[in-house]
Amino acid sequence: MKLSKFGEKFSSQSGIVELMDDLGTALNENPDMIFMGGGNPGRIPQVEQVFKARMETILSDPAQLHSLMGVYQSPQGDKDFREQIAGLLRQQFGWQLSERNIAISNGSQSAFFVLYNLFAGTMSDGSQRSIHLPLAPEYIGYRDIGLSDNQFTATRPDIELLDDNLFKYHVDFSRLNINQQSAALCVSRPTNPTGNVLTDGEIEQLDAIAAEYDIPFIIDGAYGLPFPSIIFNDARAHWNHNTILVLSLSKLGLPGVRTGIIVASEEIIQAFTRANTIVSLACGNLGPALARELVSSGEILSLSQQQIAPFYRQRADQTVQWFRQALGDLPYRIHRPEGAIFLWLWFENLPISSQLLYERLKARGVLVVPGHNFFPGITDDWRHQQECIRVSYAQDGAVVKAGIAIIAEEVAKAYGL
Ligand SMILES: Cc1ncc(COP(=O)(O)O)c(C=O)c1O
Repeated sequence: MKLSKFGEKFSSQSGIVELMDDLGTALNENPDMIFMGGGNPGRIPQVEQVFKARMETILSDPAQLHSLMGVYQSPQGDKDFREQIAGLLRQQFGWQLSERNIAISNGSQSAFFVLYNLFAGTMSDGSQRSIHLPLAPEYIGYRDIGLSDNQFTATRPDIELLDDNLFKYHVDFSRLNINQQSAALCVSRPTNPTGNVLTDGEIEQLDAIAAEYDIPFIIDGAYGLPFPSIIFNDARAHWNHNTILVLSLSKLGLPGVRTGIIVASEEIIQAFTRANTIVSLACGNLGPALARELVSSGEILSLSQQQIAPFYRQRADQTVQWFRQALGDLPYRIHRPEGAIFLWLWFENLPISSQLLYERLKARGVLVVPGHNFFPGITDDWRHQQECIRVSYAQDGAVVKAGIAIIAEEVAKAYGL
């Protein structure tokens, strides 16, 4: 098969492809695997019930059913839904925006594909620009998304060692490597894979730097504010006309529905919408149909704050406790869980690579994600990249606990203990 450069790049093996292959196998084909890998959300019966009831209402009304299945949506996405989202954001945060500042996509992953390639890559004058990640580790799904090579640059974090085998990454502003070739700054907040929540101060400083360089500041809020609000501290939401906030319905419990929401200046929304129309033609109707009333009533906030965030918070605390018991005196650290649905474990001076640890765990029926995939834009061979793994705590407690026991055994074996 003769492939283009695009074809070679996009059909080759990559971290996100491996992760989603593992996820598909574990959740759909081989349910005996202990799944602590990809970012599938957990099952929260009260939340599932709300979506089920909404679905039943749609099914019982022929007009709603026809709008769900029988019409192409307008390119920017359902106008009522965009108005409701804009209303919610105005009311919650006082942001000055309207439905013209909102676009819908088929999942936020595809929104990132469009956005990153809108801003970075080969410019019309032949120069190259890259998206800068001010703090890597960052989301594995960005890594292979660029149509050009070197789509990302990144800055290594400052590592704060905390008591009780915890640690926390901070943006190292003294090393921040931004220049005229930087096309935008991007952070996920809470961060996948670490569960870090960049502080309000870090966000303000990054916002000021983006404004100074006249480049957008992209905040990936897949786990963040205002929904699904999987944040365990009181971090504030951030947006202004230089920010591109990307939200998703996935971690509310709807990953199969594929709905992303982009909040940005009208100019960016227009550019995004045109590009997204070329790629996707139109967005799916199901996400807006399921979420519309929850957004207009504000119930999406109470569900997030009263059901979803406490569910993951309890899971995070429990999982940390189980890891402490299982890992005992092994040289481990856990990134302080501040949000999202993962723990990020750091095994300092681990004698084997994170890939080998992943493979050994997989052979024993436990799926995690090896840490080296989460450093897009870090080009040196910083050893830390090989010393970490990401584990999801979204699945059933008994499953997570069984996985932790096997992880502890394999880590001990790797250290020769
Ligand atoms: C940080 C982050 N951003 C974006 C996505 C993409 O999510 P989706 O395409 O389901 O909206 C994910 C999925 O796991 C994620 O973890």
